[in-house]
Amino acid sequence: AVVDKIPTMAKKTLIVDIGSWTIDIMPVINKSPDESKCVTIPKGLITCMNRLLKLYLMCNDGWEQGWHERNGGNLSYRIKDEEVAEVKEFLHYENEWKPIGTKVPGLASEYFLVTGSGKYFRNVIIDPEDSICIIELDEKGENYSILWGLVNGGRLTSELPSHLMNHEVKKGVTNVYHAHTTNVIALTFVLPLEDKVFTRELWEMATECPVVFPSGIGVVGWMVPGGREIAVATSALMKEYDVAIWAHHGMFCSGEDFDLTFGLMHTVEKSAEILVKMLSMRPDKRQTISPQNFRDLAKDFKVTLPEKFLYDK
Ligand code: 13P
Ligand code: ZN
Repeated sequence: AVVDKIPTMAKKTLIVDIGSWTIDIMPVINKSPDESKCVTIPKGLITCMNRLLKLYLMCNDGWEQGWHERNGGNLSYRIKDEEVAEVKEFLHYENEWKPIGTKVPGLASEYFLVTGSGKYFRNVIIDPEDSICIIELDEKGENYSILWGLVNGGRLTSELPSHLMNHEVKKGVTNVYHAHTTNVIALTFVLPLEDKVFTRELWEMATECPVVFPSGIGVVGWMVPGGREIAVATSALMKEYDVAIWAHHGMFCSGEDFDLTFGLMHTVEKSAEILVKMLSMRPDKRQTISPQNFRDLAKDFKVTLPEKFLYDK
């Protein structure tokens, strides 16, 4: 990128290229690069920010589960202040501000890692700079600016309003994850689209489920994705739950770190898989975990299970 500029350079010029993986330094003496003095320092945004590696691995894990056909799904991570401070030198603050599509004043001036729209989870680990980006929100929480990534152009995920509105209602979480989980989607064609039915049926499919998602699961009936309206409906449920199902579409999960968020998605989807298998064998259960069993479990595992989910069937 600098070859064209070499003839115009001063007698002694030092070229410093701050890249995503390395910082490359090359002296140019009398308009001629001195390759013997080139230095490559293994320090770049990607090497300095280990959360980025976690994000790549999570995208890859989701891909391997089969939840991210084509560009299906998206992921966001709220970058902590100390992490921003570590990588500030790699960020570009001159890009334009663009509207988020909703208002999130509670997240004013915060930084996020976000996947791009139309980008494939399969490719995040192969070419992260093309697939994801770091954004900063303005001081009103109405616009964003891209500070790194999406190097070949493109937009932020179409579900940005849902991601940010979920982050806004869940101040303690750092991750919001949307996936097209096959078995949960299948169940939205056969179960009533009610929080209490999905919560109870999925709790019953594996003993650890109520311990992993004790507050339950919210369900959003079919809606047009990618806008403010579905973001409002989802974030209203996320005030109460860490999981929201989008009928005939997929799931949103939130969590305090990458492992917890992925683990939550995985647990709910596995429970759905068991229910699909059970329903394929026979329409009713011969035996199951009873409301009293759940109360006993809650006591020993020190979780609170809302009584509204322990109804008599
Ligand atoms: P994006 O490619 O815009 O992230 O959309 C994928 C998706 O799953 C929409 O719900
Ligand atoms: Zn989707």
